[in-house]
Amino acid sequence: MPYGEAAIAEAVRVIASGGCVAVPTETVYGLAADASDARAVAGIYEAKGRPSFNPLIVHVLDLAAAEKIARFDDAARDLAARFWPGPLTLVLPVRADAGVASLVTAGLSTIAIRVPAHRAMRALLAACGKPLAAPSANASGGISATRAQHVVASLGDRVPLVIDDGATPGGIESTIVRGDEILRPGPLTADDLFPCEGRGPDSESKSGPLPLQGNITAPGQLASHYAPSKPVRLNATEAQPGEWLIGFGAIPGNDTLSASGDLIEAAANLFDALHRADAAPMRAIAVAPVPATGIGIAINDRLARAAFPRG
Ligand code: TXA
Ligand code: MG
Repeated sequence: MPYGEAAIAEAVRVIASGGCVAVPTETVYGLAADASDARAVAGIYEAKGRPSFNPLIVHVLDLAAAEKIARFDDAARDLAARFWPGPLTLVLPVRADAGVASLVTAGLSTIAIRVPAHRAMRALLAACGKPLAAPSANASGGISATRAQHVVASLGDRVPLVIDDGATPGGIESTIVRGDEILRPGPLTADDLFPCEGRGPDSESKSGPLPLQGNITAPGQLASHYAPSKPVRLNATEAQPGEWLIGFGAIPGNDTLSASGDLIEAAANLFDALHRADAAPMRAIAVAPVPATGIGIAINDRLARAAFPRG
C-alpha cells in the first residue's frame, strides 16, 4: 500500500490489534509491532523465522521517549544529540519500568534503541504513540529489504501490510554502538562517532571488520547472514562461467554497485543488487572488491556474511 494517510491509518489498526507491519526507514525496511505487546513481538519472530535469542531494536520518536526505556550516560546522550534522528542504534541498560516485552530484549539486561529519520516510520510512530520493535523486514538470515517488493518476496503473506515508500535512501542497517564499541558497522563510521579519540581513519580497534565467529556481542551478527540462496565469491575481478558478477568502480558486471566507485551509492544499491543476483539464472554470485573505508567497512561486513557458507 503506498505511503500516505490511509496507509498509516491502516497500519495503526493492524498494530493496535497485535499485528506487524512492514515500513521503510532510512536504512532498510523494518517489520514493526507494538514493543509492549509480547504476543505482537512473538508475531515478529514468527514471521521472520527468527531464533528467539536474537533481540530486536526498539524505535522511538525522540530522545525523551528513549530515556523512558533505557538509562543514558553522558556519552550516550552526546551521541544521541549528534546523530538522532538517524542510522544509529544505542545499546544501553534497559529500565525496569520500560514497559517493553521481555521478548524484545530476549532476556538481556540491555536494550537496542534508535530514533529513525524516515518520514514513513516517523509518521507510524507518531500515529501509534508508542515504541515499536522492528527488526529488518526479511526472513531470518536472508537479504535485507530496501524495497517493498523485497519484503513481499521474502515474507509474503506473513506480513499483512507493507507501507511502500520506494527504495530506502541509505541501504545498510544502522550502526550499533555500546559504549565506545561498534557492535555492527553501518552508515556512521568510527570516525563519525568518535572523532576526537586520536585514531587514524577507520582504525581497526573500533571499526575494523568484526570477527565472523566467536564471541558474538550483537547476537544477530551471525557469520552467515544476509545470505542469498547460492554461493557468493568475493573480491572477483571477473566472472567465472556460471557466475553473475556484481561490479564496482572499474570492474563492470552484470550489475554494478556504483560505476563511479561511490561508496554511498554502493551501500544504497547493495541489497537490491544481491536480490537481483539471487533471482538471476546463474548458479553463483561473484562480487568485485569494494574498498573497506568509510561505509565500505559496513558493505564488506555484509558481503562477508553473505558469502559465509551456511551450516
Ligand atoms: O537499520 C536498522 O537497524 C534496521 C531498521 C529496521 O531499523 N533494523 C535492524 O534490525 O537491522 P535487526 O533486528 O535486523 O538487527 C538488530 C541487531 C541484531 O544483530 C541484534 O542482535 C542486535 O541488533 N541487538 C538487539 N538488541 C541488542 C542488545 N541488547 N545487545 C546487543 N545487540 C543487540
Ligand atoms: Mg536483520
